[in-house]
Amino acid sequence: MTALSRRLVLGGAAAAAAGLPLVAQPVQAAPAKADPRALRDGLDYAVRKLRAVAPGITRFPEETKFEKWIYTDGGGWVGGFWPGLLWLAHLETKDPLFRRLAEESARRLAPRRTDLGTHDLGFLFYPSWVTAWRLTGNREWRDGAIQAADSLIRRYNAKGRFLRAWGHINDPGNAGRVIIDTMMNLDLLFFASKETGDSKYADIAVDHARTTARHFVRPDGSTPHVFDFDPATGAPVGPNTVQGYSPTSCWSRGQSWAIYGFTTVYRRTGQREFLDVATKLADHVLPYLRTDPVPIWDYRSPYAPNDIRDSSAGAITACGLLDLAKITGNARYRDTATTVLGAITDTCLTTRSTRAEAIVARGTRHRSAEGGIEVSLPYGDYYYVEALLRLFRPAELGAAIGL
Ligand code: GLY
Repeated sequence: MTALSRRLVLGGAAAAAAGLPLVAQPVQAAPAKADPRALRDGLDYAVRKLRAVAPGITRFPEETKFEKWIYTDGGGWVGGFWPGLLWLAHLETKDPLFRRLAEESARRLAPRRTDLGTHDLGFLFYPSWVTAWRLTGNREWRDGAIQAADSLIRRYNAKGRFLRAWGHINDPGNAGRVIIDTMMNLDLLFFASKETGDSKYADIAVDHARTTARHFVRPDGSTPHVFDFDPATGAPVGPNTVQGYSPTSCWSRGQSWAIYGFTTVYRRTGQREFLDVATKLADHVLPYLRTDPVPIWDYRSPYAPNDIRDSSAGAITACGLLDLAKITGNARYRDTATTVLGAITDTCLTTRSTRAEAIVARGTRHRSAEGGIEVSLPYGDYYYVEALLRLFRPAELGAAIGL
Protein backbone atom coordinates (compact mmCIF):
# COMPACT_ATOMS: atom_id res chain seq x y z
CA MET A 1 0.00 0.00 0.00
CA THR A 2 1.41 3.40 -0.94
CA ALA A 3 1.52 6.26 1.54
CA LEU A 4 -1.26 7.96 -0.39
CA SER A 5 -3.59 4.97 -0.53
CA ARG A 6 -2.95 4.43 3.18
CA ARG A 7 -3.99 8.04 3.76
CA LEU A 8 -7.12 7.53 1.68
CA VAL A 9 -8.15 4.49 3.67
CA LEU A 10 -7.42 6.25 6.96
CA GLY A 11 -9.35 9.31 5.77
CA GLY A 12 -12.30 7.11 4.93
CA ALA A 13 -12.12 5.44 8.33
CA ALA A 14 -12.13 8.83 10.05
CA ALA A 15 -15.17 9.90 8.02
CA ALA A 16 -17.00 6.68 8.83
CA ALA A 17 -16.16 7.05 12.51
CA ALA A 18 -17.61 10.56 12.39
CA GLY A 19 -20.80 9.24 10.76
CA LEU A 20 -20.00 11.11 7.55
CA PRO A 21 -20.56 9.80 4.04
CA LEU A 22 -17.92 7.72 2.37
CA VAL A 23 -17.28 8.97 -1.12
CA ALA A 24 -15.67 6.85 -3.83
CA GLN A 25 -11.97 7.55 -3.43
CA PRO A 26 -9.95 6.68 -6.54
CA VAL A 27 -6.34 5.77 -5.80
CA GLN A 28 -4.23 8.09 -7.90
CA ALA A 29 -0.60 9.05 -8.22
CA ALA A 30 0.46 11.14 -5.24
CA PRO A 31 0.69 14.83 -6.13
CA ALA A 32 3.87 16.75 -5.37
CA LYS A 33 3.70 17.69 -1.72
CA ALA A 34 3.66 21.38 -0.91
CA ASP A 35 6.62 22.53 1.15
CA PRO A 36 5.24 24.18 4.33
CA ARG A 37 8.20 26.59 4.37
CA ALA A 38 7.32 27.75 0.86
CA LEU A 39 3.72 28.35 1.95
CA ARG A 40 4.97 30.27 5.00
CA ASP A 41 7.18 32.37 2.70
CA GLY A 42 4.13 33.00 0.51
CA LEU A 43 2.23 34.40 3.49
CA ASP A 44 5.19 36.55 4.54
CA TYR A 45 5.48 37.84 0.99
CA ALA A 46 1.78 38.74 0.94
CA VAL A 47 2.15 40.78 4.14
CA ARG A 48 5.28 42.56 2.83
CA LYS A 49 3.51 43.44 -0.39
CA LEU A 50 0.47 44.78 1.47
CA ARG A 51 2.65 46.81 3.82
CA ALA A 52 4.30 48.45 0.82
CA VAL A 53 1.20 49.03 -1.29
CA ALA A 54 -1.80 49.43 1.01
CA PRO A 55 -1.05 52.90 2.47
CA GLY A 56 -1.34 54.37 -1.04
CA ILE A 57 -4.69 52.75 -1.88
CA THR A 58 -7.86 54.70 -1.18
CA ARG A 59 -10.32 52.99 -3.57
CA PHE A 60 -11.24 49.38 -4.34
CA PRO A 61 -8.82 47.35 -6.49
CA GLU A 62 -10.71 45.57 -9.28
CA GLU A 63 -7.99 43.95 -11.42
CA THR A 64 -4.51 44.83 -12.62
CA LYS A 65 -3.38 46.35 -15.86
CA PHE A 66 0.34 46.23 -16.60
CA GLU A 67 0.71 44.90 -13.03
CA LYS A 68 -0.83 47.99 -11.40
CA TRP A 69 -4.24 47.99 -9.74
CA ILE A 70 -7.09 49.66 -11.50
CA TYR A 71 -9.96 50.66 -9.28
CA THR A 72 -13.70 50.85 -8.85
CA ASP A 73 -14.88 53.79 -6.73
CA GLY A 74 -18.14 52.32 -5.49
CA GLY A 75 -16.79 48.82 -4.94
CA GLY A 76 -18.47 47.00 -7.84
CA TRP A 77 -18.88 43.40 -6.71
CA VAL A 78 -15.30 43.21 -5.39
CA GLY A 79 -15.27 46.00 -2.78
CA GLY A 80 -15.33 43.62 0.19
CA PHE A 81 -12.05 41.94 -0.69
CA TRP A 82 -9.71 44.87 -0.12
CA PRO A 83 -10.84 45.63 3.45
CA GLY A 84 -11.10 41.87 3.96
CA LEU A 85 -7.49 41.38 2.93
CA LEU A 86 -6.38 44.17 5.24
CA TRP A 87 -8.22 42.46 8.11
CA LEU A 88 -6.39 39.24 7.30
CA ALA A 89 -3.07 41.12 7.32
CA HIS A 90 -4.04 42.56 10.70
CA LEU A 91 -4.78 39.06 12.00
CA GLU A 92 -1.37 37.88 10.88
CA THR A 93 0.66 40.87 12.11
CA LYS A 94 -1.49 42.64 14.76
CA ASP A 95 -0.16 45.83 13.17
CA PRO A 96 -2.58 48.72 13.91
CA LEU A 97 -1.78 50.16 10.48
CA PHE A 98 -3.70 47.32 8.83
CA ARG A 99 -6.63 47.76 11.21
CA ARG A 100 -6.85 51.49 10.46
CA LEU A 101 -6.68 50.89 6.70
CA ALA A 102 -9.23 48.06 6.91
CA GLU A 103 -11.70 50.26 8.77
CA GLU A 104 -11.22 53.19 6.41
CA SER A 105 -11.73 50.94 3.40
CA ALA A 106 -14.75 49.12 4.86
CA ARG A 107 -16.39 52.44 5.73
CA ARG A 108 -16.35 53.41 2.07
CA LEU A 109 -18.78 50.57 1.39
CA ALA A 110 -21.49 52.10 3.60
CA PRO A 111 -23.70 53.36 0.74
CA ARG A 112 -23.91 49.83 -0.67
CA ARG A 113 -25.91 48.52 2.33
CA THR A 114 -29.13 49.53 0.61
CA ASP A 115 -28.14 48.52 -2.91
CA LEU A 116 -31.08 46.72 -4.50
CA GLY A 117 -29.29 46.24 -7.81
CA THR A 118 -27.08 43.25 -7.05
CA HIS A 119 -26.86 39.91 -5.24
CA ASP A 120 -23.22 40.59 -4.38
CA LEU A 121 -23.98 41.93 -0.92
CA GLY A 122 -22.38 38.92 0.75
CA PHE A 123 -19.17 39.37 -1.24
CA LEU A 124 -19.26 43.05 -0.29
CA PHE A 125 -20.16 42.89 3.39
CA TYR A 126 -18.98 39.54 4.74
CA PRO A 127 -15.17 39.84 4.49
CA SER A 128 -15.36 43.52 5.38
CA TRP A 129 -18.16 44.40 7.83
CA VAL A 130 -18.94 41.00 9.38
CA THR A 131 -15.22 40.43 9.96
CA ALA A 132 -14.91 43.98 11.32
CA TRP A 133 -17.70 43.28 13.83
CA ARG A 134 -16.11 40.05 14.95
CA LEU A 135 -12.68 41.62 15.36
CA THR A 136 -13.64 44.97 16.88
CA GLY A 137 -16.99 44.43 18.61
CA ASN A 138 -18.21 47.74 17.15
CA ARG A 139 -21.96 47.28 16.60
CA GLU A 140 -22.05 49.65 13.63
CA TRP A 141 -20.44 46.93 11.51
CA ARG A 142 -22.93 44.31 12.71
CA ASP A 143 -25.94 46.54 12.14
CA GLY A 144 -24.71 47.56 8.69
CA ALA A 145 -24.19 43.94 7.68
CA ILE A 146 -27.75 43.12 8.78
CA GLN A 147 -29.02 46.04 6.71
CA ALA A 148 -27.19 44.57 3.71
CA ALA A 149 -28.85 41.21 4.41
CA ASP A 150 -32.23 42.99 4.43
CA SER A 151 -31.43 44.34 0.97
CA LEU A 152 -30.32 40.91 -0.25
CA ILE A 153 -33.50 39.08 0.77
CA ARG A 154 -35.57 41.51 -1.30
CA ARG A 155 -34.20 39.63 -4.30
CA TYR A 156 -35.98 36.44 -3.27
CA ASN A 157 -38.38 34.88 -5.77
CA ALA A 158 -40.80 32.82 -3.64
CA LYS A 159 -42.26 30.94 -6.63
CA GLY A 160 -38.88 29.66 -7.80
CA ARG A 161 -37.28 29.70 -4.32
CA PHE A 162 -34.18 31.54 -5.50
CA LEU A 163 -32.36 34.84 -5.16
CA ARG A 164 -32.08 36.59 -8.48
CA ALA A 165 -28.49 37.46 -9.34
CA TRP A 166 -28.43 40.49 -11.54
CA GLY A 167 -30.35 43.72 -12.08
CA HIS A 168 -32.39 45.99 -9.83
CA ILE A 169 -35.26 44.24 -8.06
CA ASN A 170 -37.75 46.28 -10.12
CA ASP A 171 -36.09 45.53 -13.45
CA PRO A 172 -37.82 42.66 -15.27
CA GLY A 173 -34.66 41.94 -17.31
CA ASN A 174 -32.69 39.07 -15.76
CA ALA A 175 -35.38 38.55 -13.11
CA GLY A 176 -35.19 34.77 -13.53
CA ARG A 177 -31.41 34.52 -13.80
CA VAL A 178 -29.58 32.62 -11.08
CA ILE A 179 -25.81 32.19 -10.97
CA ILE A 180 -23.59 29.79 -9.09
CA ASP A 181 -21.66 32.68 -7.48
CA THR A 182 -24.67 33.52 -5.27
CA MET A 183 -23.77 30.55 -3.08
CA MET A 184 -21.06 32.79 -1.61
CA ASN A 185 -23.57 35.49 -0.66
CA LEU A 186 -25.62 33.20 1.59
CA ASP A 187 -23.37 33.36 4.64
CA LEU A 188 -24.41 36.99 5.14
CA LEU A 189 -27.97 35.69 5.55
CA PHE A 190 -26.96 33.03 8.09
CA PHE A 191 -25.09 35.74 9.97
CA ALA A 192 -28.18 37.98 10.02
CA SER A 193 -30.41 35.18 11.35
CA LYS A 194 -27.93 34.32 14.06
CA GLU A 195 -27.58 37.94 15.17
CA THR A 196 -31.25 38.89 15.03
CA GLY A 197 -32.84 35.58 16.05
CA ASP A 198 -35.09 35.93 12.99
CA SER A 199 -34.93 32.80 10.81
CA LYS A 200 -36.25 34.54 7.68
CA TYR A 201 -32.75 35.19 6.31
CA ALA A 202 -31.49 31.64 6.86
CA ASP A 203 -34.72 30.18 5.46
CA ILE A 204 -34.16 32.03 2.21
CA ALA A 205 -30.52 30.96 2.13
CA VAL A 206 -31.52 27.31 2.56
CA ASP A 207 -34.20 27.59 -0.13
CA HIS A 208 -31.72 29.15 -2.54
CA ALA A 209 -29.10 26.48 -1.79
CA ARG A 210 -31.65 23.70 -2.39
CA THR A 211 -32.73 25.24 -5.70
CA THR A 212 -29.08 25.55 -6.74
CA ALA A 213 -28.34 21.97 -5.74
CA ARG A 214 -31.32 20.69 -7.70
CA HIS A 215 -30.75 22.59 -10.93
CA PHE A 216 -27.04 23.36 -11.17
CA VAL A 217 -25.29 20.27 -9.89
CA ARG A 218 -24.96 17.69 -12.66
CA PRO A 219 -24.75 13.96 -11.93
CA ASP A 220 -20.96 14.07 -12.31
CA GLY A 221 -20.62 16.96 -9.82
CA SER A 222 -19.85 19.70 -12.34
CA THR A 223 -21.87 22.93 -12.62
CA PRO A 224 -22.82 25.53 -15.20
CA HIS A 225 -22.35 29.22 -14.42
CA VAL A 226 -26.00 30.20 -14.91
CA PHE A 227 -29.45 28.65 -14.66
CA ASP A 228 -32.49 30.53 -15.93
CA PHE A 229 -36.01 30.31 -14.52
CA ASP A 230 -39.30 31.81 -15.59
CA PRO A 231 -39.53 34.63 -13.05
CA ALA A 232 -43.34 34.65 -13.09
CA THR A 233 -43.91 30.96 -12.43
CA GLY A 234 -40.53 29.90 -11.05
CA ALA A 235 -40.39 27.10 -13.64
CA PRO A 236 -36.88 26.01 -14.70
CA VAL A 237 -35.81 27.09 -18.19
CA GLY A 238 -32.30 25.65 -18.40
CA PRO A 239 -28.55 26.05 -17.92
CA ASN A 240 -26.64 28.90 -19.46
CA THR A 241 -23.34 30.70 -19.13
CA VAL A 242 -21.79 34.13 -19.26
CA GLN A 243 -18.31 33.63 -17.83
CA GLY A 244 -17.84 29.96 -18.68
CA TYR A 245 -17.16 28.39 -22.07
CA SER A 246 -20.67 27.06 -22.66
CA PRO A 247 -23.87 26.03 -20.85
CA THR A 248 -22.50 22.49 -20.66
CA SER A 249 -18.98 23.40 -19.55
CA CYS A 250 -17.64 23.92 -16.03
CA TRP A 251 -16.23 27.41 -15.34
CA SER A 252 -13.59 26.78 -12.72
CA ARG A 253 -14.24 29.86 -10.59
CA GLY A 254 -17.94 29.08 -10.57
CA GLN A 255 -17.17 25.55 -9.41
CA SER A 256 -14.94 26.99 -6.70
CA TRP A 257 -17.74 29.30 -5.47
CA ALA A 258 -19.98 26.24 -5.32
CA ILE A 259 -17.50 24.11 -3.34
CA TYR A 260 -16.87 26.86 -0.81
CA GLY A 261 -20.52 27.95 -0.70
CA PHE A 262 -22.12 24.53 -0.16
CA THR A 263 -19.51 23.66 2.46
CA THR A 264 -20.44 26.86 4.29
CA VAL A 265 -24.17 26.08 4.09
CA TYR A 266 -23.45 22.69 5.66
CA ARG A 267 -21.35 24.37 8.35
CA ARG A 268 -24.24 26.73 9.18
CA THR A 269 -27.13 24.25 8.99
CA GLY A 270 -25.61 20.85 9.80
CA GLN A 271 -27.92 19.41 7.12
CA ARG A 272 -26.33 16.40 5.49
CA GLU A 273 -27.79 17.11 2.04
CA PHE A 274 -25.46 20.12 1.72
CA LEU A 275 -22.38 18.17 2.75
CA ASP A 276 -23.25 15.56 0.14
CA VAL A 277 -23.42 18.27 -2.52
CA ALA A 278 -20.17 19.88 -1.36
CA THR A 279 -18.26 16.58 -1.50
CA LYS A 280 -19.70 15.78 -4.92
CA LEU A 281 -18.58 19.17 -6.27
CA ALA A 282 -15.14 18.76 -4.70
CA ASP A 283 -14.71 15.19 -5.89
CA HIS A 284 -15.38 16.37 -9.42
CA VAL A 285 -12.37 18.70 -9.43
CA LEU A 286 -9.83 16.60 -7.53
CA PRO A 287 -8.65 14.62 -10.59
CA TYR A 288 -8.11 17.87 -12.53
CA LEU A 289 -6.17 19.47 -9.70
CA ARG A 290 -4.00 16.49 -8.95
CA THR A 291 -2.54 16.62 -12.44
CA ASP A 292 -2.80 20.36 -13.04
CA PRO A 293 -3.03 22.18 -9.70
CA VAL A 294 -3.54 25.77 -10.90
CA PRO A 295 -6.99 25.37 -12.44
CA ILE A 296 -7.60 25.98 -16.09
CA TRP A 297 -10.21 28.78 -16.44
CA ASP A 298 -12.89 26.29 -17.56
CA TYR A 299 -12.38 22.60 -16.84
CA ARG A 300 -14.12 21.81 -20.13
CA SER A 301 -12.39 24.33 -22.35
CA PRO A 302 -11.91 22.75 -25.79
CA TYR A 303 -8.24 23.76 -25.50
CA ALA A 304 -7.76 21.93 -22.22
CA PRO A 305 -5.31 21.23 -20.78
CA ASN A 306 -3.35 23.83 -22.77
CA ASP A 307 -5.40 26.90 -21.99
CA ILE A 308 -4.99 29.83 -19.63
CA ARG A 309 -5.25 29.41 -15.86
CA ASP A 310 -7.28 31.12 -13.19
CA SER A 311 -5.24 31.28 -10.00
CA SER A 312 -8.21 32.84 -8.17
CA ALA A 313 -10.23 29.67 -8.79
CA GLY A 314 -7.36 27.71 -7.27
CA ALA A 315 -7.21 29.88 -4.14
CA ILE A 316 -11.00 29.74 -3.60
CA THR A 317 -11.05 25.99 -4.19
CA ALA A 318 -8.22 25.55 -1.69
CA CYS A 319 -10.25 27.39 0.97
CA GLY A 320 -13.28 25.21 0.29
CA LEU A 321 -11.25 21.99 0.33
CA LEU A 322 -9.54 22.93 3.60
CA ASP A 323 -12.95 23.53 5.17
CA LEU A 324 -14.24 20.22 3.81
CA ALA A 325 -11.16 18.44 5.18
CA LYS A 326 -11.82 19.95 8.59
CA ILE A 327 -15.46 18.88 8.53
CA THR A 328 -15.01 15.39 7.11
CA GLY A 329 -11.55 14.44 8.36
CA ASN A 330 -10.76 13.38 4.80
CA ALA A 331 -7.05 14.02 4.21
CA ARG A 332 -7.22 14.02 0.44
CA TYR A 333 -9.12 17.35 0.50
CA ARG A 334 -6.37 18.88 2.62
CA ASP A 335 -3.61 17.32 0.51
CA THR A 336 -5.12 18.62 -2.71
CA ALA A 337 -5.65 22.07 -1.19
CA THR A 338 -2.03 22.34 -0.12
CA THR A 339 -0.89 21.07 -3.51
CA VAL A 340 -2.91 23.82 -5.19
CA LEU A 341 -1.52 26.44 -2.79
CA GLY A 342 2.00 25.13 -3.38
CA ALA A 343 1.54 25.45 -7.12
CA ILE A 344 0.14 28.98 -6.84
CA THR A 345 3.06 29.89 -4.56
CA ASP A 346 5.58 28.39 -6.99
CA THR A 347 4.20 29.64 -10.27
CA CYS A 348 1.81 32.56 -9.74
CA LEU A 349 3.21 34.93 -7.11
CA THR A 350 4.51 38.30 -8.20
CA THR A 351 7.69 37.88 -6.15
CA ARG A 352 10.10 38.48 -9.00
CA SER A 353 8.40 41.58 -10.36
CA THR A 354 9.54 45.05 -9.36
CA ARG A 355 6.28 46.60 -10.64
CA ALA A 356 3.52 44.40 -9.31
CA GLU A 357 1.09 45.81 -6.75
CA ALA A 358 -0.79 42.55 -6.21
CA ILE A 359 0.30 39.30 -4.57
CA VAL A 360 -0.96 36.63 -6.97
CA ALA A 361 -0.77 36.83 -10.77
CA ARG A 362 -2.21 34.56 -13.47
CA GLY A 363 -5.87 35.21 -12.70
CA THR A 364 -8.61 35.29 -15.29
CA ARG A 365 -11.59 37.56 -14.80
CA HIS A 366 -13.72 36.87 -17.88
CA ARG A 367 -12.13 34.72 -20.57
CA SER A 368 -15.27 34.49 -22.69
CA ALA A 369 -15.41 38.26 -23.09
CA GLU A 370 -11.62 38.46 -23.55
CA GLY A 371 -11.51 40.60 -20.41
CA GLY A 372 -8.97 40.37 -17.63
CA ILE A 373 -6.70 37.53 -18.75
CA GLU A 374 -3.38 36.86 -16.99
CA VAL A 375 -4.12 39.56 -14.43
CA SER A 376 -4.21 39.86 -10.67
CA LEU A 377 -7.60 39.92 -9.00
CA PRO A 378 -8.49 41.13 -5.49
CA TYR A 379 -10.31 37.86 -4.79
CA GLY A 380 -7.23 35.90 -5.89
CA ASP A 381 -5.17 37.75 -3.30
CA TYR A 382 -7.88 37.58 -0.62
CA TYR A 383 -8.53 33.83 -0.85
CA TYR A 384 -4.84 32.98 -1.20
CA VAL A 385 -4.18 34.68 2.13
CA GLU A 386 -7.36 33.26 3.68
CA ALA A 387 -6.26 29.75 2.66
CA LEU A 388 -2.80 30.24 4.16
CA LEU A 389 -4.31 31.52 7.40
CA ARG A 390 -6.54 28.42 7.46
CA LEU A 391 -3.25 26.51 7.63
CA PHE A 392 -1.15 28.77 9.86
CA ARG A 393 -3.65 30.56 12.13
CA PRO A 394 -6.80 28.43 12.09
CA ALA A 395 -8.18 29.55 15.46
CA GLU A 396 -7.73 33.27 14.86
CA LEU A 397 -9.05 33.05 11.31
CA GLY A 398 -11.98 31.00 12.55
CA ALA A 399 -12.88 33.69 15.08
CA ALA A 400 -12.74 36.33 12.33
CA ILE A 401 -14.73 34.61 9.58
CA GLY A 402 -16.87 32.27 11.64
CA LEU A 403 -15.35 28.82 11.12
N1 GLY B 1 -18.63 36.77 -9.05
C1 GLY B 1 -18.09 37.15 -10.29
C2 GLY B 1 -16.88 36.37 -10.65
O1 GLY B 1 -16.53 35.40 -10.00
O2 GLY B 1 -16.27 36.75 -11.63
